[in-house]
Amino acid sequence: MIIAKRGDITREDVDVIVNAANEGLRGGGGVDGAIHRAAGSSVMEACRKIGHCATGDAVITPAGKLKARRIIHTVGPVWNGGKSGEPGLLRDAYRTSFRLAKREGLRSIAFPAISTGVYGYPKKEAAMIALAAGREFEEDFDEIRFVCFSVGDLAIYKDILNSNTGVGFQP
Ligand code: APR
Repeated sequence: MIIAKRGDITREDVDVIVNAANEGLRGGGGVDGAIHRAAGSSVMEACRKIGHCATGDAVITPAGKLKARRIIHTVGPVWNGGKSGEPGLLRDAYRTSFRLAKREGLRSIAFPAISTGVYGYPKKEAAMIALAAGREFEEDFDEIRFVCFSVGDLAIYKDILNSNTGVGFQP
């Protein structure tokens, strides 16, 4: 089942939440900062030990004080006009996160809108990629949740989910 909801991803009661991290796994603002604040220093310590994650790749840590059991840290692309492979890299960030969760036996997963904050990816295009990836992995999970921080962001996801044509991936 795929659902889109408004909310704060740090509070989601799923097996694993996904973080929109940077390649240095150093923490930052946005959802990354919120997750590290809520999870506590043990998660930053685990990230420090891992040290690096390439754009489009994903790593996994425990979830510290969160309700979720694990955190997958993935790195989406910085938007640079769209001609630098951004769509493929964003799709990779979702797909590698799904594959890692599946390999770890995790059955419910929540995503923020990766790359759409500080990294500047256009929200609708990013949501289409997120939902297309969700469709690819729908059978592997009990629940896939897309957690939108604002009502406006949620409306974008709902529009795509309610149309039959919106979830194709356009490279
Ligand atoms: N829950 C859900 N979504 C959130 C939350 C939250 N608590 N906080 C922010 N968001 C949303 C933002 O509104 C945005 O739509 O997450 C989306 C992603 O925005 P960013 O967190 O800025 O992530 P991104 O664009 O991928 O940039 C990553 O920002 O914080 C740094 O360390 C991070 O350098 C990395 C960069």
